[in-house]
Amino acid sequence: MKKLTKEEKEELLKLATEGAKNAHCPYSKFRVGAAVLGKSGKIYLGGNIENVSYGATVCAERVAIWKAVSEGEKEFDAIAVVGPGTKEAYPCAQCRQVMVEFGLDWLVISGDAQGKYLGEKTVREIVPFPFEPSALLGK
Ligand code: THU
Repeated sequence: MKKLTKEEKEELLKLATEGAKNAHCPYSKFRVGAAVLGKSGKIYLGGNIENVSYGATVCAERVAIWKAVSEGEKEFDAIAVVGPGTKEAYPCAQCRQVMVEFGLDWLVISGDAQGKYLGEKTVREIVPFPFEPSALLGK
């Protein structure tokens, strides 16, 4: 995992607030944004996309990760996530599992709606006892 500087983390959080601008969250009104930094250096943005059939909703983190993966990016250094809360907060369990798919040693940076840094953890830290690809692939 590339070690990000304070400035790089702040920039990623700022981009996550950009992702939040395109969130589609008319039901919860809980606006979330994400920016994921790929090993290539490219950054992919996402916002949560809700649906009138609630179960079809996708979190901001997965929107950003799916955009990256669908562009051929499968290794990541960090994801910044911003939401309405004022306390450090981390992704839902489904998003954590999606993150595990692409490694344990990358960073999840938490921020508020203005992109202010609230804290950070590695994927490894937020997913104890992970179910990893090696379980199925036998590696
Ligand atoms: N949500 C995210 O986008 N990311 C999270 O980490 C937690 C929840 C979204 C899903 C839903 O649109 C709304 O927030 C309320 O759960």
